[in-house]
Amino acid sequence: MVQIVPSILSADFSRLGEEIARVESTGINMLHVDVMDGHFVPNLTLGPPLVESIRKRSKLKFDCHLMVENPDLMAPLFLAAGANLVSVHAEVARNLDRTLHAIQDEGARAGVAINPATPIEMIENVLDFVDYVLVMSVNPGFGGQRFIARSLDKVRRLDRIRQQGNYGYRIEIDGGVSHANVAEIVRAGCDWLVAGSAVFHSEDAAAAVNEMQQIAAEATSIKV
Ligand code: DX5
Ligand code: ZN
Repeated sequence: MVQIVPSILSADFSRLGEEIARVESTGINMLHVDVMDGHFVPNLTLGPPLVESIRKRSKLKFDCHLMVENPDLMAPLFLAAGANLVSVHAEVARNLDRTLHAIQDEGARAGVAINPATPIEMIENVLDFVDYVLVMSVNPGFGGQRFIARSLDKVRRLDRIRQQGNYGYRIEIDGGVSHANVAEIVRAGCDWLVAGSAVFHSEDAAAAVNEMQQIAAEATSIKV
């Protein structure tokens, strides 16, 4: 089932518990948590203590997107803090196969993220066991950026590869998702659509999620 996954990066951090509650009522089951270390990307966001505190307040599955220089150091910390899914960037994982298996060995789902300029070829040797592929549709580091349409070609290719190889990975897209492009993204074969500013910068976050979920459901029913 196609899911909208709100990203808390665009939420009001001064009242994060309430912000998460705003979207929990919509029936979503995943929350995207953007971790930035100021090295891999020119921004710095949050650490394990924050995940630990929101873990106590939410039953949602935390999808931690590690935009960090050292995923082998950071992944265990976020798993211990309560992450249910952890994605690491192929661009910085020195031993990607080992890093992903280490996340799975902790009972979490492991994802590999690729930036707009990174080809699918870079991750083809982990597609047979990775739980999800995070296709960046913006250059990572900030919310509110413009969607890079070329990312849909990667989604379509990943959808074909998993059908041909009978792989089980989910496809997640991240960056610039809005009401305007949800249908096209779903028709390209995407399962999880991360949305930050389209949700938390809207008047009514729950309504925004529900509207995008509705568009996604309609697009799925007419998927050719
Ligand atoms: C960007 C993050 C995205 C971002 C999405 O580096 O990985 O998750 O928060 O925000 P929007 O939906 O506003 O582009
Ligand atoms: Zn993200």
